[in-house]
Amino acid sequence: LIIVLDFGGQYNQLIARRVRESGVYCEVHPYKISIEKLKEKNPKGIILTGGPNSVYGEDGLIPDEGLWELGIPILGICYGAQLMTHALGGKVSLASSKEYGKTEILIDSKENLFKDFDDTTIMWMSHSDYIERLPEGFCVTAHTAACPIAAMENASKKMYGVQFHPEVMHSVKGKELLANFVYGPCGCKGDWKMDSFVEATISEIREKVGDGKVLCALSGGVDSSVAAVLLSKAVGKQLTCVFVDHGLLRKDEGDEVEAVFGPAGSYDLNFIRVNAQQRFYHKLAGVTEPEAKRKIIGEEFIRVFEEEAKKIGAVDYLVQGTIYPDVIESGLGESSVIKSHHNVGGLPDYVDFKEIIEPLRMLFKDEVRQAGLELGIPEYLVFRQPFPGPGLGVRIIGEVTAEKVKIVQDADAIYREEIAAAGLDREINQYFAALTNMQSVGVMGDFRTYDYAVALRAVTTSDFMTAEAAKLPWEVLEKIASRIGNEVDHVNRVFYDLTGKPPGTIEFE
Ligand code: XMP
Repeated sequence: LIIVLDFGGQYNQLIARRVRESGVYCEVHPYKISIEKLKEKNPKGIILTGGPNSVYGEDGLIPDEGLWELGIPILGICYGAQLMTHALGGKVSLASSKEYGKTEILIDSKENLFKDFDDTTIMWMSHSDYIERLPEGFCVTAHTAACPIAAMENASKKMYGVQFHPEVMHSVKGKELLANFVYGPCGCKGDWKMDSFVEATISEIREKVGDGKVLCALSGGVDSSVAAVLLSKAVGKQLTCVFVDHGLLRKDEGDEVEAVFGPAGSYDLNFIRVNAQQRFYHKLAGVTEPEAKRKIIGEEFIRVFEEEAKKIGAVDYLVQGTIYPDVIESGLGESSVIKSHHNVGGLPDYVDFKEIIEPLRMLFKDEVRQAGLELGIPEYLVFRQPFPGPGLGVRIIGEVTAEKVKIVQDADAIYREEIAAAGLDREINQYFAALTNMQSVGVMGDFRTYDYAVALRAVTTSDFMTAEAAKLPWEVLEKIASRIGNEVDHVNRVFYDLTGKPPGTIEFE
């Protein structure tokens, strides 16, 4: 196990992911973690991340001093390296010029971190402070034109620091550098795989839960499904999954979820489906403002879930399918808040439970999918499109009604069918149909129509923070538009959305 201590940098989880990619299990923890807890975890190495603060400023994030005495190999990245310098008697100052972007690194010592490197390499720099004077016992292992100490080490104490960010993609041999750290000074073997995570997590859960009762809000999305299956494998019928059908799911989706997780499915758990469609439509009647809609759906969801939970009575644990990007986007880690999400933070007030279990908190989406496949969850579920918590509620512009839900469900089903038939479903990261709030004049046979316009959205993206409109083949678009026009009542126009993110968001509301 390698532990990453989080000092608030944007790339922190990427570090963990790179380490896991080299076959070593890695977890991210807040920098404030106590020394006792750290020792308990018994890591083979510790990585200190970057962060926005200055070590010498009042807002500098300072970990427990005992960290430097543990005798465990430490790699400091950017802020982490500056912190190491500051704590061990060196000097960190504001640089006369910032260094940002791809930078040539000149390597002075090809041992340890730079084992098997050439004389120079390219790494990603992003800093305004720099290491002015080394702490005692350290030597410089790399420099750049602007930065005299781009990397340093005290090999006898197994402490290493780099000013650049090896974890980002632009760093050419960044992954190799991290691997050198974990295989070299830390002595890791690199034999960790996703199946070890799955096995270890199942037995950890089993031990933790004992004969306790567990409740899970299952949405049918990848994250909550993988979390539920992990729990089911660990504690079987001690787990109850509540699936709230809010009537804003995609076509036939409620039945599909029931088929997999219900009594006819193959998992050992209690499954409760709540058909709350009318209740949601009623609450949404007349509401057009997007944030108001999101709020209503989120709150109503919690109310319905609470009512079910009350029927079940006290439970010991509540399972959430939170994954790492949810944690950062909602500002629950050290990184700053980007937006608040429907599925995190909004905990039911009246559910009687002792503790939350979030088995996927450390994983990225593709890692969750890998875990899902490992667990034998059907592929169509594992590779399901991302689907927002408020569902079709944010894909119907303006007021939500049962009739509009049906229109967008039917259009979306055709869209998905044709994209899959064209073999494009794994290439496009997210695609769906939305219902605009626009009606216009058309003609059908000999009759005038006055009907809705459907918008088709398809985006390619790597992180869902920015996105581009996918370049769909014209013939595929034509076929979809023609089928929607012919087969979906009350639609007489189809638009393709060319907007990127920014300026658009991926969803419409
Ligand atoms: P936006 O629309 O913000 O979407 O560009 C980015 C990604 O997040 C999904 N999304 C949500 N997921 N709860 C979720 O679980 C939400 O409230 C929510 N809103 C948007 C969206 O589908 C896209 O993948």
